[in-house]
Amino acid sequence: MSRLDSFINRMSAQRDLLNHVRDHGDLPEEGPVFEIGLGNGRTFSHLRECFGGRRIIAFDRKLASHASATPEPENFVEGEIRETGQAFVGKNAALVHADIGTGYPDVDAVTLTWLPQMVAGMLAPGGVAVSGLPLDHADLQPLPRLESIQEGRYFHYRRR
Ligand SMILES: C[S@@+](CC[C@H](N)C(=O)[O-])C[C@H]1O[C@@H](n2cnc3c(N)ncnc32)[C@H](O)[C@@H]1O
Repeated sequence: MSRLDSFINRMSAQRDLLNHVRDHGDLPEEGPVFEIGLGNGRTFSHLRECFGGRRIIAFDRKLASHASATPEPENFVEGEIRETGQAFVGKNAALVHADIGTGYPDVDAVTLTWLPQMVAGMLAPGGVAVSGLPLDHADLQPLPRLESIQEGRYFHYRRR
């Protein structure tokens, strides 16, 4: 598969899953949304459309989002998420979306030494995680794959 096709698959899987959570996610009534990996802000912009009633806090090592998709300063957390995210463990997020996979297995393996634990800790019971990397953690119950999404492409979980 070309990298272009792979990218398009990832983006459509991400959008389909976030729309699914918006429509059928049964999220906790209260609680913020965390966007782990703000990047250009495309997903942040989509999260704002889907979950506009909630506070959305975005994380990245540096701010590089499009002007139209940049969080308010109080809703952006700059720095290495492995460190900055610790302060948000126990904050009872309703939804955590993480898009920090690199496509390099060795780099992603390091990320996976801390990301699942952090995401599980950020979520409220019943909250949902949506991630481009698999989050293998005892407190995260895998949810059924959507038909439109290829096996292993994008993942979602409910916090037990
Ligand atoms: C694939 S991009 C996210 C794209 C985003 N969903 C969008 O719509 O533009 C991943 C982003 O996560 C950030 N990132 C990856 N790993 C990180 C880490 N460990 N700490 C902080 N930021 C990280 C990168 O700087 C990059 O901007």
